[in-house]
Amino acid sequence: MPQPHLLSILNEGVLTLTIERPEALNALNSRVIAELAQAIDAAQTNAAAHVIILTGSGSKAFVAGADIKEFADFDAPKGKELARLGQESLFNRIERSAKPVIAAINGFALGGGLELALASHVRIASDTAKMGLPEVSLGVIPGYGGTQRLPQIVGKGKAMEMILTARMIGAEDALACGLVNQVVALEDLLPAADKMARSMMKNSPKALQTAIQAILAGYEDGINGFEAEITCFGASFETEDFKEGTQAFIEKRKPQFPGK
Ligand code: CAA
Repeated sequence: MPQPHLLSILNEGVLTLTIERPEALNALNSRVIAELAQAIDAAQTNAAAHVIILTGSGSKAFVAGADIKEFADFDAPKGKELARLGQESLFNRIERSAKPVIAAINGFALGGGLELALASHVRIASDTAKMGLPEVSLGVIPGYGGTQRLPQIVGKGKAMEMILTARMIGAEDALACGLVNQVVALEDLLPAADKMARSMMKNSPKALQTAIQAILAGYEDGINGFEAEITCFGASFETEDFKEGTQAFIEKRKPQFPGK
């Protein structure tokens, strides 16, 4: 039985998924993609998991990209299939996760590795992290959503620069351009991600899910984000979480949201 490439630890509501392939700097081969997709799926129906943290094993890499050795002899149809499968089975599912996903970037986050962080809802980097989309240096382009999500997060100009130069940037530059939300020392990375997870977790799980849905709506073709917000806002009034949240405010106590 081969060793799994994913370590999954649930601690008081926070599910930490660690990619365990240090010999290849945690590169995403088809097994890692499948194990991660399965874990993200399972988390959606796991009532004990409220926030997900994604990180890489060791202190060198978060994820150094898609596995170059795995796709080196692919032709166009296989390349297309690789991107489609990866996007549909994993990256889109992370972005659409009903439970917030925090990327804890502990080193190199390159190519598919940075795309994994971009699909997450929030990114925290160690001060040792290096990030980039170096695909054009290999004669390909980003295929796990990088050409779309990087400009959404840092703006078109900075995304053009990063993708066309293929250069890596350090954590402080990533913070300055909004690529990451926070930078901390490596030893403080998981505690910082855990702290952020817990500040999300004290809120209504249903409202977190709906907020993610409304934010993403604005990035979908043919959907009016403001209309989506109105619909999502209205739907919130029908939830138990809304009744509990508002009642708790009026009674000057902490809310006890259902399912927690
Ligand atoms: N795929 C497969 N193996 C990888 C890998 C990757 N993306 N990145 C690193 N590795 C492997 C190396 O081949 C090496 O294995 P061996 O010991 O068996 O030779 C091991 O990990 C350690 O790597 P290095 O010896 O290269 O370590 P380094 O410290 O000298 O360099 C690095 C570190 C700068 C991150 C370098 O490994 C590197 O440039 N990696 C590739 C980064 C990259 O181009 N990523 C984009 C991939 S394409 C992609 O992601 C497409 C997409 O969007 C879908």
